[in-house]
Amino acid sequence: MKFCRRGPIRAQVSKEVAVLLVVALLSIGGGESRKGRILVDESIEYTAISCRGHSASLTDFGGVGDGKTSNTKAIKAAIDNLSQYASDGGAQLYVPAGKWLTGSFSLTSHFTLYLHKDAVLLASQDMNEWPVLKPLPSYGRGRDAAGGRFTSLVFGTNLTDVVITGDNGTIDGQGAFWWSKFHGGKLKYTRPYLIEVMFSDNVQISNLTLLNSPSWNVHPVYSSNILVQGITIIAPVKSPNTDGINPVSGDDCVAVKSGWDEYGIAFGWPTKQLIIRRLTCISPYSAVIALGSEMSGGIQDVRAEDIVAINTESGVRIKTAVGRGGYVKDIYVQRMTMHTMKWVFLMNGNYKAHADNNYDPNALPVIQGINYRDMVAENVSMAARLEGISGDPFTNICVSNVTIGMAAKSKKVKWMCTDVAGITSGVTPQPCDSLPNQGSEKITTCEFPTDSLPIDNVEFKKCTYRMSSARTLLRV
Ligand SMILES: *[C@@H]1O[C@H](CO)[C@@H](O)[C@H](O)[C@H]1NC(C)=O
Ligand SMILES: *[C@@H]1O[C@H](CO)[C@@H](O)[C@H](O)[C@H]1NC(C)=O
Ligand SMILES: *[C@@H]1O[C@H](CO)[C@@H](O)[C@H](O)[C@H]1NC(C)=O
Ligand SMILES: *[C@@H]1O[C@H](CO)[C@@H](O)[C@H](O)[C@H]1NC(C)=O
Ligand SMILES: *[C@@H]1O[C@H](CO)[C@@H](O)[C@H](O)[C@H]1NC(C)=O
Ligand SMILES: *[C@@H]1O[C@H](CO)[C@@H](O)[C@H](O)[C@H]1NC(C)=O
Repeated sequence: MKFCRRGPIRAQVSKEVAVLLVVALLSIGGGESRKGRILVDESIEYTAISCRGHSASLTDFGGVGDGKTSNTKAIKAAIDNLSQYASDGGAQLYVPAGKWLTGSFSLTSHFTLYLHKDAVLLASQDMNEWPVLKPLPSYGRGRDAAGGRFTSLVFGTNLTDVVITGDNGTIDGQGAFWWSKFHGGKLKYTRPYLIEVMFSDNVQISNLTLLNSPSWNVHPVYSSNILVQGITIIAPVKSPNTDGINPVSGDDCVAVKSGWDEYGIAFGWPTKQLIIRRLTCISPYSAVIALGSEMSGGIQDVRAEDIVAINTESGVRIKTAVGRGGYVKDIYVQRMTMHTMKWVFLMNGNYKAHADNNYDPNALPVIQGINYRDMVAENVSMAARLEGISGDPFTNICVSNVTIGMAAKSKKVKWMCTDVAGITSGVTPQPCDSLPNQGSEKITTCEFPTDSLPIDNVEFKKCTYRMSSARTLLRV
């Protein structure tokens, strides 16, 4: 995943509620070389948007990696100490192999958090280790409860130039503890996320495994230039709201959002210029990419390509409702390969979870310019279920070169369309009448933009550190 230009990304989404995302670009990459591995036990090498002039290990600050001792104080002391280098080359905090129990902590600017491949940040189950924040202004309330929200495990606000990376080290949310509280209706506040950055820019989140998040996995919000890459997200398929990126997750793999009803409209911060690339998604009860349902600040210019879905409920899903306001427009998705799903394309104009009863019934969302091309799907129950809003149709939908193989037990009606308008070309099975086939003379393919977005031009540096005789990593 690659970037965000303004807003939150949240790799989250949910069956009903949500969040706001902003702009992000994803490019989850395979990668042949094995940068980031420990070279001689005592050296590390990886690529990042910035390398740092200073480095220290968590053990320098009294950290204990036994899986039992709380490291919250040690991590805070380390980040506090290292923040003094912000204007002197920046600093890296190295987390060695071990299990490092911790509550939530806040990052600083010009800072790198690096996890060794056998390092596990283990989320504490002591509620006192999770300070409570106010609800997001564009949400007006929490996702799980009306009040505030627990600070995410790794949190940052008003920052610039931050790298959270590792040689595929692990952040383990120990989510079962939170899921059972959620299901038991025992939460006073909204569950924490694993990683959240707010009001920040130039943030890289890469090469980590995120395990069993209490809720959403990665949530960049009100932020720009956010690059998420090489992330593996793992959570039980039935875990509540564990939206993620490149995940086997319990919710949508990538959820793009921008605020909820009247709060999102008032806050007015759209998610724009989001790129999602090379994502592999398994999520039997959710979508590969969901736009909404909280989209009241607007979602525009999302480009997604080279995506593999193995077992999902839907491919791309747009969720909205009367009262949301905002818009979803200029969406371009190409080269998706999908296997086993209920619907390839899903649009719901009646996705009702409202923040409260004060939403404006005249605030109609604008859904237009939705483009899908070059896709193959197999074992599908229904090709598409597209439900616009009566009196507020979803328009300028274009679908071309899409081949959908139906499951043996597929529905009789392959395309179900209400209150939508658009065109198609080279699509099987034959689309509904509101998306007439133009034939090859008129369109052979939906038009996609060919310009590159700024996130495409990010320059990575190769960062190398070696252990000194004092057992501190020094930049070389
Ligand atoms: C992530 O790891 C891969 C493979 O080890 C490497 O090629 C890539 O440069 C790393 N990317 C980042 C952004 O850390
Ligand atoms: C924190 O920074 C100071 C320099 O201001 C340094 O002398 C000190 O050793 C550092 N603390 C630790 C625990 O490394
Ligand atoms: C962070 O930035 C936002 C938006 O600019 C501002 O409203 C807020 O007060 C800032 N918070 C802090 C802690 O500086
Ligand atoms: C990272 O670790 C996860 C969990 O063990 C694994 O599934 C994934 O393939 C690993 N990624 C890389 C690039 O090694
Ligand atoms: C149609 O899509 C397939 C991939 O699904 C691609 O291989 C093929 O080149 C596309 N055809 C055209 C004419 O673009
Ligand atoms: C096709 O999808 C059904 C569920 O609809 C699933 O049970 C079956 O295993 C899938 N078949 C293949 C070949 O993947």
